[in-house]
Amino acid sequence: MIDIQRLNEELKGLDAAQVLKKLTQIVNDPIVFSTSFQLEDQIITHFIATEDLNIEIFTIDTGRHFPETYKTWEKTLERYSNIKIRAYFPDTEDVEKLLTEKGPFSFYKSVENRKECCYIRKVKPLERALAGKAVWITGLRSGQGDTRQNVPLVDWDKKHQVVKINPLHDWTLEQVRKFINDNLIPYNELHDRGYPSIGCQPCTRAIKPGEPLRAGRWWWEQNAKKECGLHVQDEDFSNSVKINKLNINQENNSQTK
Ligand code: ADX
Ligand code: SF4
Repeated sequence: MIDIQRLNEELKGLDAAQVLKKLTQIVNDPIVFSTSFQLEDQIITHFIATEDLNIEIFTIDTGRHFPETYKTWEKTLERYSNIKIRAYFPDTEDVEKLLTEKGPFSFYKSVENRKECCYIRKVKPLERALAGKAVWITGLRSGQGDTRQNVPLVDWDKKHQVVKINPLHDWTLEQVRKFINDNLIPYNELHDRGYPSIGCQPCTRAIKPGEPLRAGRWWWEQNAKKECGLHVQDEDFSNSVKINKLNINQENNSQTK
């Protein structure tokens, strides 16, 4: 069984960069990081690239991103020439069927339709990206709003059967912005135009002053949870089941303590 408690002990008191490095020293199984090129993701990419860590970076291209997001992707590759960003795309047949049956904007018509699109374009590709992996690193932060309170550093993702690590879980938005500026990290220019949270183009708008950070995501939905299914475990966005065990490298571990 995966020993979350032990992992917590190992990572306790380390800063975000040290957490990532330590993971690569003590975990023998594949570690992956998912990026959507938002501020938090750019910081984690910066750590992985500058420390040259053995962590695979991947992104899910839903096919509906903002042009500014693709530009950020490109700028990131230019800045960090030592990294590769693996792209996952939705299944062609799924998208063809969805568009043929429901047209290009079905998600505005019901929550059910919206979840169907998110399942096809995000959740299913994520399942492929996490298959056979032991650790999944994300840019989640506790300060990101109602559905993101108490994001832990170490979590167990029961649905995907992976250990989930959120190195920036306790960072404030101010800390995130300062780190980006201080280190001249390339970022999505939409962040300067009122978009603190950026997802697919048709489902994201800028927020007004005082609105919650994720108010611009699926803004037309009044009562639904503002989540697409990537980080939700209590809803049936998928039926994927896979068993994966975390293999901690004892030898390295004792050397690096
Ligand atoms: S979402 O679930 O509402 O879309 P959000 O946009 O807040 O998530 O991003 C939180 C984290 O989820 C990111 O830091 C990243 O790790 C992961 N993530 C979100 N969207 C993608 C994507 N398209 N590809 C890869 N990772 C993503
Ligand atoms: Fe589809 Fe919108 Fe979800 Fe993107 S955010 S996958 S366009 S419903």
